Amino acid sequence: MKRLFILGAGSMAESFIKGIVEEGVIDPRDIFVCNRSRHERLMELREWYGITPAESVARAADSDLVILAVKPYDMMEALRQLRPHLSNQVILSFAAGIPIDAIRRATGGHPYIIRTMPNVPVAVMQGAIALSAPPTVPRDKLDRVIEMLAGLGQVVEIEEGLMDAATAFSGSGPGFISYLLEAMEQAAVDLGFEPELARKLLVQTVIGTAHVLREWNLSPSELRRRVTSPNGTTHAGVEVMKSRGVYDAIIEAVQRAAVRAEEMGREYTREA
Ligand SMILES: NC(=O)c1ccc[n+]([C@@H]2O[C@H](COP(=O)([O-])OP(=O)(O)OC[C@H]3O[C@@H](n4cnc5c(N)ncnc54)[C@H](OP(=O)(O)O)[C@@H]3O)[C@@H](O)[C@H]2O)c1
Repeated sequence: MKRLFILGAGSMAESFIKGIVEEGVIDPRDIFVCNRSRHERLMELREWYGITPAESVARAADSDLVILAVKPYDMMEALRQLRPHLSNQVILSFAAGIPIDAIRRATGGHPYIIRTMPNVPVAVMQGAIALSAPPTVPRDKLDRVIEMLAGLGQVVEIEEGLMDAATAFSGSGPGFISYLLEAMEQAAVDLGFEPELARKLLVQTVIGTAHVLREWNLSPSELRRRVTSPNGTTHAGVEVMKSRGVYDAIIEAVQRAAVRAEEMGREYTREA
């Protein structure tokens, strides 16, 4: 990929830009970014990452890859603006819930559409990126996109039918994990810690746990059992979580997020 065009300069676009610039496979000046109205945001991104602000969506015309990074509810309007400037580019959508078929219809049958669900850690090259492409995307085009994304984290190719599920636990995952950490930090403060000091230990605990799960190839329940001695501290805490239904609440939260992704897809693509 030589030239990228990013439609939408919000937080996901910035995480992606940060990672891709750090990866160093594309000259930041060849990353063109367009917003709807907030021009000052483009100036910021130019200052921080060296990207080129695009004055209009017409800049998409001479790009190899067009990234859709607008909110799902803005997608159909954005595609209407983009459509006259499309030819052979590969389109990569970040949008939660929006099916490939809706993008295809809104672009007059564009064949090269890839749907992804990245998450914010792509900014530090530790992202989880679910990706799905229809058979109309030739393997070599898909491989080039996967190669670029692989520098930003773990890429997993899935069927499109699983995309709303990936959105729920992986796209929204950093938010859910942060919510758990909010509670743990509050507990640490209640027990006498300064928040910053507690956060140092908490963040490292998450990083360390993730590394152990991966490097020892353990399931989360195996690791939990290993660190839970009978009548010990972890056991005491987990018993409270069990009695308060935390496990079921988390399952329900992820399921609700998946349903919401699906609802958004229906709500925001009605006109397509
Ligand atoms: N945030 C996440 O963690 C995350 C994770 C995975 C996937 N995603 C997906 O990434 C997408 C973007 O999310 P976000 O959180 O980055 O949203 P955001 O911060 O609200 O940014 C969206 C940007 O899109 C711009 N925009 C809207 N309509 C446009 C148009 N017609 N042409 C050009 N620019 C337009 C807006 O510009 P103005 O401000 O000028 O209106 C805004 O800067 C969503 O579809 C979301 O589902 C997000």
